[in-house]
Amino acid sequence: MVLHPLRKISLPADIAAANEAWLANLDAQLTAPGADWYRIARDTLFALWYPDGDSYQDMLSKASDTGRIALLALDPHHVTLEPEYYDEVDVEKFARIKPLLCLWYGFDRSPAGGQNVDLGVKLRRLLAPHVFARCGDNFKCFQHVEFSFGYNMEVGDNVVVHRHVLLDDRGGIELHNRVSIADYANIYSHTHSIVDQVDVTTAKTVLEEDVRITYHATVLAGVKVARNSMVGAVAVATKNVRPYHVNVGIPAKSVRVKPNAPPEASATARVGHSD
Ligand SMILES: CC(C)(COP(=O)(O)OP(=O)(O)OC[C@H]1O[C@@H](n2cnc3c(N)ncnc32)[C@H](O)[C@@H]1OP(=O)(O)O)[C@@H](O)C(=O)NCCC(=O)NCCS
Repeated sequence: MVLHPLRKISLPADIAAANEAWLANLDAQLTAPGADWYRIARDTLFALWYPDGDSYQDMLSKASDTGRIALLALDPHHVTLEPEYYDEVDVEKFARIKPLLCLWYGFDRSPAGGQNVDLGVKLRRLLAPHVFARCGDNFKCFQHVEFSFGYNMEVGDNVVVHRHVLLDDRGGIELHNRVSIADYANIYSHTHSIVDQVDVTTAKTVLEEDVRITYHATVLAGVKVARNSMVGAVAVATKNVRPYHVNVGIPAKSVRVKPNAPPEASATARVGHSD
């Protein structure tokens, strides 16, 4: 076995200080009494896309038709996000966090965001507790992760979410302590009737402690992935996964029990539709 723990790297001191100062300033703005998250998101995105230019309003007043579209799209009041069209959206809850989702996604697409791992992880760690129902310590989220509502996310401590993951929390998603979700995985919590497209069922999807969802895997709505289990690359978990089991394939089935499993894991009775 070859162990490859993550390397420890640091940014140059002046860059790290500039990042920390920017984050502290943003945090102070967001947590100030009566903070207007819509204005903060717009102005922050504007500064990220048009650093040190005129003010937003000045630039808007003299913009071309196309420039105007680009500038207006930086204001969360002036864009719609897909989950706003969902019938069961809690309009009030979503309206509250919408500017923070716009800031999160907009940062990821900006020149300053994109591949800026250190700053991006810290920014998302700052935003997540405002967006989620619950967010534990040390949340680590890489770029281009998207949510449905965001407010139906319950996240424990030391959870890691890698690039390009979709967390569809329409019916709620629980990520317990130390869950890890690899690149391009999809976790769903809603499904459609095969007869009637608008017949939507939501069901909470739960990933228990120490679960690993590996790259390009999908977990369908209502599935419980039990503690210490693993869903293999490109698998589709349609049914519950038993503790310490490794499930692979489409539909995902258990191919082994982890060697570190306690004796009872091998004998764990099926739970619900577990395989
Ligand atoms: C799930 C996984 C870890 C299983 O590894 P493993 O326990 O060493 O299992 P094996 O390689 O011995 O495979 C057992 C069987 O399942 C099959 N299998 C393994 N992974 C599979 C997958 N993702 N999809 C379909 N079948 C798979 C193997 O071909 C083998 O089948 P066989 O018995 O007919 O030959 C691994 O295959 C995987 O998907 N890894 C993803 C990489 C990873 O760890 N990512 C972490 C994210 S950061």
